[in-house]
This record gives sequence, structure tokens and C-alpha cells, in this order.
Amino acid sequence: MPKYIPEPFRIKMVEPIRLIEKSARLAALQRAGYNVFGLRSDEVYIDLMTDSGTGAMSQEQWSALMLGDESYAGARSFFRLKEVIDQIFGFKHFVPVHQGRAAENILCAVLLKPGQKVPSNMHFDTTEGNIRARGGQPVNLVNKAAYDPQAILDFKGDMDVEALEKWIEETGVENIPFGMMTITNNAGGGQPVSMANIRAVSKVYRQHGIPFFIDACRYAENSYFIKLREKSYENKSPLEIAQEIFSLADGCTMSAKKDGLVNMGGFLAMNDDDLFVRVKAELILREGFPTYGGLSGRDLDALAVGLKEALNVEYLAYRLSQAEYLAGRLRDVGVPIIEPPGAHAIYIDAAGMLPHLNREQLPGQALSIALYLEGGIRGVELGTVAFGNQVNGHWEYPSLELVRLALPRRVYTQSHLDYVAEVLGEIKAQATSIKGMRMTYAPELLRHFTAQFEIA
Ligand code: F0G
Repeated sequence: MPKYIPEPFRIKMVEPIRLIEKSARLAALQRAGYNVFGLRSDEVYIDLMTDSGTGAMSQEQWSALMLGDESYAGARSFFRLKEVIDQIFGFKHFVPVHQGRAAENILCAVLLKPGQKVPSNMHFDTTEGNIRARGGQPVNLVNKAAYDPQAILDFKGDMDVEALEKWIEETGVENIPFGMMTITNNAGGGQPVSMANIRAVSKVYRQHGIPFFIDACRYAENSYFIKLREKSYENKSPLEIAQEIFSLADGCTMSAKKDGLVNMGGFLAMNDDDLFVRVKAELILREGFPTYGGLSGRDLDALAVGLKEALNVEYLAYRLSQAEYLAGRLRDVGVPIIEPPGAHAIYIDAAGMLPHLNREQLPGQALSIALYLEGGIRGVELGTVAFGNQVNGHWEYPSLELVRLALPRRVYTQSHLDYVAEVLGEIKAQATSIKGMRMTYAPELLRHFTAQFEIA
């Protein structure tokens, strides 16, 4: 038997991709101010910018679209989605929203008062943004090992439960409107969280009467990691594991663009009746009526099918093996990555790969540019440009300088990944010829989307 798992699908519809000439790639970079967010997608050959909303839908999902009921209120599509969400997540109420950050916005709008704090293992940046936008403060309490790129742990996304208890004592429950956990931990390298840890965190939150919301975007991948790695879960199905996870929480925010296997969508779920009433009021103001919440009826139907497909064992085994395969190829050519790899992305340690550049020379940005110039591959910098602070003209650097290669779901084949590994191998072989970058323009907020650069 081969070591890898072949794609558990064959291709029925194709979307052409093309590697444009190197001179055209250079011209595109110059036009884009050396920021890959400024590239047109037809200038990109292999697009690993994000796994969010970039997946391929199945024939069952495309068929389900045709059943979409576009009634303003009480659409059949909503009730089909409700049946699936009830089964997997088991919360008393939910509302659809157009994507994950809309769920975060509504949750913060109804629960958070200025000055309050929200703990999590690690918040994703839109969650942080939504908490801050309401005058709150996001607090990350992940285990310290999460910050060590080489620490091999089964559940590197776990929260430090002792630190959480201590922090709650110091902060006071009146200042904590709700607590969270992100599964898997995207901001920390896509690392999974164990059931034991979710249970322990749930117990602490419940003892203190703090409502517990899970950021559930990659719930299926996390469930499968639990099946593979946590004792006594090997004979449970991903569905049963997901049900157990959510039984420990009071609600969840969901970006369905990941493990919902759709291109757009999300939801906010909760048990509390009173909260549901307030959420609906906010939803109607910002997203739409509670049976569609910013989505078309057909989107709800595609999501109902996608949520179930994401829990399919063959699909999950292939999904995790794809990340493991790329990680293995990169190790073979000496490219340093965050270990162990998660399921949705490989995170390259750019500072380790380009040691001749100091942090001021923005090695993450330089690597993302080299990746596009050499191979037409688009990954994103998650380092100084994305997370650093400029104070009085000086940088305060984040602990890690990374480039993320996210894997869209069911989109690229193993030979695409071979190509990515080969390009990175070539870059690694001539790493010292890669020049640093200098930022020539930076907006005040969310810098990495629109900043401009030149070669230093
Ligand atoms: N939470 C996590 C853990 C995420 O990874 C994302 C999005 C969101 C919330 C927000 O969801 O985009 O639907 O509003 N992550 C994408 C990414 C953008 O590329 O990692 P959204």
C-alpha cells in the first residue's frame, strides 16, 4: 500500500489554471506593490492564500442548490439546515449569518460591555477585532508550547487550564461576559484541541457561570484529530466526537467557509432562550430574517450537505494526509515548518528559512514574494507585517515569523503539492540570494491586506 491516501474523488468539472511567464509575475508584483493581496487570481498558479471559502463543492451540494427555497421567512432550506445543525451541534437555537465574523460581531454586540475581557486558547484576528471594536479585550491562554515551532505535541492548541483559573480569579467573573476556545487553533498553526482539555475548560467556565462559546470553523478536522490521537476515541465516529465537543459548550460561532464546505456562510448557535431573543433582534438589523440571516436559500441547502460531508471519515483521512504529505516533502528539502502540521495549512518558519535576513528585513514578506516570483504560488505572511507593531518608528516583533500555505478543501491534487514542495526546495537552495523588504506604505488597521513594499 502507498503511504499517502489518494484523493477520494475524481474530477468532473475543471477550472483551468496557468503559470504565467516569470517576467509577467515580476510585473504583477511591481504593480501590486509587492503585496500578494494585490494580485489578480489569474496571475496566480497555485493559490494557497486561504482555506476559507475556497473549497470545491460536491455533486451532492451542487444538486442541493437546485432545491433552494428562496422564501423570505420559513424557507424549507432553513429547516433542512436546522435538522443537520441540530444533529451535529445540538444547541437549542441557531441563526444563519453570512460568514464567521458576522457571528462574532453579533455575539459581541449583545454580550460584551466596554472594558470586559474574553479568554480563549487563541482568538483568530477577526474575533480579536470584534472584541476590540466593542471596547473589550481578547486574552489568549494557550499552553506555552504553542509558541515553540518545534515542540511536537498531539494537542498543541490546548488551553492552559491552571492559567485560566488564575486569570478568572484575578479578573473577576463580572468582567468576563463569555469565554471561548478556537478549534482547531488557526492563529497557533492550526493545532487541534483535545476533548480532555475542552472538558476541563468547560468545567472551569461552568463553575464560574461564564457562558462558553466555541469558535467551531474547523470542528470536523479537530474531531478527527481526537479520533486519531486521544485515548478511548478511536472507535467513535467524527460525528459522535463532534456531538460530545459541543455538548460541553453553551454555543458556537461558525465560519462555514471552512468545515461547512461552502464558499460563503456561517451561523451562531446557543442554548440560552433570552440570548436568542437578543441575537435575533441584532441579526434582523444587520444580516437578515432569522430563517436566512444573510444567505440565499440555496446556500443553506449546500451548507446542510457540506456540514455532513466534512465529517466523512474517508474525506478527513485524505484531508489530514494531504497536509502531512506536504509537510513531509518540505522536511525532505530542509524547509523549516511548524511541527506537527495541522490539517488546514502548513506554516513555514520564514525566519528559520532565511536566516541571513534580520527581522527588520521582513523575512516572511520576502519569502511570500519569492514563492510567487519563483513558482506563481500564493501564500500569506503571518509575521511582522501581519502582527508586528510599529512604535516610534521601531518594530515590535511577534514571536513567530511565518508564511502560511493554506490548503483549500478538495481543490489541489498531490501533484500540485509536489510542485509546491519543489519550488520551495529551489528557494531553500538559493535562500541567501533572497533580498529583504521594506514597507513603503502601511494603513493604520489590518496592515497586511493593503501595505506596499519595495526590495530593500
Ligand atoms: N475564526 C477562525 C478560527 C478563522 O480561521 C476565521 C477565518 C474566522 C473565525 C472568521 O471567519 O472569514 O468566515 O469571517 N479565517 C480565514 C483564514 C479568513 O484565512 O484563516 P470568516
